[in-house]
Amino acid sequence: MAKKLFIKTYGCQMNVYDSARMADVLAPLGYAKTETPDDADMVIINTCHIREKAAEKVFSELGHWRIRKAEARERGGDVTIAVAGCVAQAEGEEIHARAPFVDLVVGPQAYHRLPELLAKAERHRALASGKGSGVLDTEFPVESKFDHLPEQVATPPGPVGFLAIQEGCDKFCTFCVVPYTRGAEYSRPAAAVIAEAERLIDAGAVEVALLGQNVNAWHGEGPDGKTWSLGRLLRELNDRFAHKHPKLRWRYTTSHPREMDDELIAAHRDVAGLMPFLHLPIQSGSDAILKAMNRGHRAEDYLRIVGKLRQARPDIALTSDFITGFPGESDRDFEATLQLVRDVGFAQAYSFKYSPRPGTPGSLMPQQVSDAVSTERLYALQALLQEQSAAFNRACVGRSMDVLVERPGRQPGQLLGRSPYMQSVVLNDPAVKIGDFITVTVTDGHANSLFGDVAGASREAA
Ligand code: 5AD
Ligand code: SF4
Repeated sequence: MAKKLFIKTYGCQMNVYDSARMADVLAPLGYAKTETPDDADMVIINTCHIREKAAEKVFSELGHWRIRKAEARERGGDVTIAVAGCVAQAEGEEIHARAPFVDLVVGPQAYHRLPELLAKAERHRALASGKGSGVLDTEFPVESKFDHLPEQVATPPGPVGFLAIQEGCDKFCTFCVVPYTRGAEYSRPAAAVIAEAERLIDAGAVEVALLGQNVNAWHGEGPDGKTWSLGRLLRELNDRFAHKHPKLRWRYTTSHPREMDDELIAAHRDVAGLMPFLHLPIQSGSDAILKAMNRGHRAEDYLRIVGKLRQARPDIALTSDFITGFPGESDRDFEATLQLVRDVGFAQAYSFKYSPRPGTPGSLMPQQVSDAVSTERLYALQALLQEQSAAFNRACVGRSMDVLVERPGRQPGQLLGRSPYMQSVVLNDPAVKIGDFITVTVTDGHANSLFGDVAGASREAA
């Protein structure tokens, strides 16, 4: 009988991608995915370490699984508990100490070794009654895990295909754990990316999201043996596959301003299938703080890139990430951030209070900003960003847009789709189903979503 695998995913889209790949690795061992935690024979908690809250959630989640494991054991069974992702990488030893019932801890570069780790865990389990079996693998292999993972199994076919093309980060922003938990930058060769894109599209994906911690740092080997940039890759992908679906669309995330080269900006002008959308984190609008963060660019560099992008693609929607209360941030520095936001005009943005992460240079900097001040700035920034996203969304009312329907909405009967600008679009139409790629007239715009009506004449299934 198939064993049931439940995966709980925290954090970024790279983690979502990795979770799917872990399921692929475990499928040949007889594990079938389940969406109901209660009947799981194995659980993988795929963790995020980017902020404190994210890491703390893991330990509270583990408390729940400790009880589930004990109950299963009373009935003569067991639940294998695995912790994966960046908390596993950064705090593997601590997980074993604080949660000894965990069977295995596996870092993001070791997922292809899951079968042997599981076998090891099972051997250990025979010896250690009641506890977990304490297997830990957080090694970074010499080559990337991508060279070892099986082909992506795209079942069931979703309308959005996720495709990791790059992993790791060499940027070492002074607030960030990613370079430590994910390792050095690695780009998959173009041939592997093209082959995986084709499999996803043939399985039904009509939007392909190219993923990487520093996705626009992608410099992979092209089919011609030369090193390609992301702009070149996007052109190639669109040229090869545009004929497969009239609305096939591409996006990429997450980008770094330092890697926004002219070839990539030109792709926003020339590649018809590239969505008019870019998530381009800046973190702060103050040059002094950008320097302390080791971002490697100034506010004016960002504004210049934005200008070029808008020249290339006038309707491009820009989103970003911000941190308030980075060590040393003064009122003036924060004012510079607000000014940058006013100057750019974002379609949407994420903002966070600075969270000192163990092992990062930022956590050791003097002049840590008080929680009260960081919070106050966060609220002020969020108020401005919300105003901007509401204005952006309101300006869409009356327009018609291609919306890809992705999942159920909050209310019964509602479905959620995405516009070309990555806005959430709420639809309430019994004839619409997940996977449809339809033309929608926007009827209402709020800070976080649009509401739309399906334009009857152009109703068309994907
Ligand atoms: N504190 C707060 N926010 C952080 N981010 C990354 N590290 C930290 C930290 N230590 C935010 C950045 C990044 C996003 C993914 O998370 O804004 O772009
Ligand atoms: Fe973290 Fe900076 Fe790398 Fe982004 S670029 S993953 S923020 S170190």
